[in-house]
Amino acid sequence: MQKKLKKLLIVANWKMTPGTLLEAKKKAIGFKAISKKYQKVPRSSVKIDVLVCPPYLYIIELANTFKSSPAKVGAQDVSVFDGGSKTGEVGSTMIHSLGAEYTIVGHSERRAAGDTDEIVSVKLGQVLRTKMNAILCIGESVRDGEAHYLEEIKRQMKESLARMSNSDFSRLVIAYEPIWAIGNQDNIALSGHELHQMVIYIRKVLKDLYNESVSSAVKVLYGGSVTPENTEDIIWNGEVDGLLIGRASFEPKSYDEICKAIITPTIQVVRFAKRQSLKRSIKNIKKAKSKGANKSKGENNIKNKIRSVSKSKSRIGNRAKPKKQNKKKSKKRA
Ligand code: PGA
Repeated sequence: MQKKLKKLLIVANWKMTPGTLLEAKKKAIGFKAISKKYQKVPRSSVKIDVLVCPPYLYIIELANTFKSSPAKVGAQDVSVFDGGSKTGEVGSTMIHSLGAEYTIVGHSERRAAGDTDEIVSVKLGQVLRTKMNAILCIGESVRDGEAHYLEEIKRQMKESLARMSNSDFSRLVIAYEPIWAIGNQDNIALSGHELHQMVIYIRKVLKDLYNESVSSAVKVLYGGSVTPENTEDIIWNGEVDGLLIGRASFEPKSYDEICKAIITPTIQVVRFAKRQSLKRSIKNIKKAKSKGANKSKGENNIKNKIRSVSKSKSRIGNRAKPKKQNKKKSKKRA
């Protein structure tokens, strides 16, 4: 059976770097090469889409460099205005005309500079109006013991999405970025396990505010102190659709290491993902059964498979060798 390809969006937020256009040009060449490398990785079930969001001034340079490659370019912010006597502002139409396909809105560093949820919702509207994709950042400032942060997330989503129409959701990406994790000196990120709970919560809020199809269609990314070391846990245990990376994306080398960590997960993580997908299969069978189909044999088979995956000893830290694993699997099946 053909494995379903997992498509991940890995966003590089260059923030206010690099210092010169020449440096930006050099880095862009590195990112272009990376984008080609992870489009089709033999024997991998993952495909990586590379998106770089540089300062406005470099967008056109990156768009030109990325031509004839899968790499995409985006902006880090946008004005609430779309033209006129607004000194210093940069509008969505301008950004789009340079070749940008995405724009980040509501990044915590912009919120700290004065962007309220109301402003974020207007910016979101500007981005979507020009047919670009929007990456909406949300995230709590502190993680209190009484789960008040969940209310904060819900409020941000409700107010920031207030101007969305149903057809806009196909171009919306949500980046969950706990503020305490952004730019953290010790690179303390949320654990994959806790992140998974947040992803479920965000999808539930989307479902409550809109509907099931919006909830499952919107991509949810994670951002905040992502490094090559914690990537694997975040992606595979967190069950996110990608990452929004700050500091570790300033250099093509560390961005590439993050991509590598995604593509070659350790054996333990592979098992976790396998168990999750088998559990989902059981759920589907149960659903079908409740509609009258008799599939108990299939259900038992899958339960046995889950047991055998769970029983085998975990080898944390060993890189899985997909080729050997596949051979073993096909031997068992034969
Ligand atoms: P960081 O930044 O990866 O440097 O923590 C994340 C972000 O700004 O989105």
